[in-house]
Amino acid sequence: MNTASTAPVTAVILVAAGSGQRLGYGMPKAKVPLGGDSILTHALRGVAAAGIARQICVALPPGDAELRAQCESFAAELQAEHRRTATSGAAVQLPAVSIVDGGASRADSVRAAVAALEPDVEAVLVHDAARALAPEAVFHRVAAALAAGAKAVIPVVPVVDTVKTVEATHDGSAGIAPEVVTGTAPREQLRSVQTPQGFELATLRRAHEAAAGFDADRAAAVTDDAMLVELLGVPVYAVRGASQSLKITTPLDLILAEGLLEGPLGARWVEG
Ligand code: C5P
Repeated sequence: MNTASTAPVTAVILVAAGSGQRLGYGMPKAKVPLGGDSILTHALRGVAAAGIARQICVALPPGDAELRAQCESFAAELQAEHRRTATSGAAVQLPAVSIVDGGASRADSVRAAVAALEPDVEAVLVHDAARALAPEAVFHRVAAALAAGAKAVIPVVPVVDTVKTVEATHDGSAGIAPEVVTGTAPREQLRSVQTPQGFELATLRRAHEAAAGFDADRAAAVTDDAMLVELLGVPVYAVRGASQSLKITTPLDLILAEGLLEGPLGARWVEG
């Protein structure tokens, strides 16, 4: 179900092809259990609950039969829900679920998914499966900015730490400490960036085409899609993200995510 009559035909790309080494489970992160289901299943349910996607395109580790089966059972879950709501007269649009092989880098995974979008798609939200608990409200804020004319929009949260730049110590001071401070960033101008990031599809395509020719060092420095759009000189707008959109990266993040699911402590610090 689109949220506004002016909303572009929208797809959600869910990138879930990472190795998850930092989580230390010895399996792709998307497979790691969280509150009885996998991280992937939580992420898929979150995308579906937002109700903005005509198509959900998932990038998975190539050849991973277990994650593919999880996507297929999620698609079956969606169809059953669609049939139930159709008979009650409250039918919501049933998104198509498609699966692509992810690539060696996150950007490669996004490119593979973009290539598999249906021809009528006009806008796309790119979402990390690792942000499995991103609330519906964030999807809606991103989609609303696209509907209002943004070509690129990202959800952000304020930075709570003071952030400094550093470089390795040299000239004899290496015995004192490994790094020395070179500056302090103005915190009020800094934001931590989350997903889903929303784009006019043509703009995202152009941004990724430009990046396809990057050498290995430059490609490794690409950590989100918005930075590629910034390089095109297209304005990237920022809307409010949410603390529960945390990227599950370390074992501590998994503990936090479990706490959010189980509440009641979690519910007190959850915002939309
Ligand atoms: O590695 P990082 O934390 O940046 O991963 C963010 C998201 O990108 C994760 O959901 C991960 O599964 C996905 N990813 C991917 N393909 C890769 C690397 C990461 O889909 N090659």
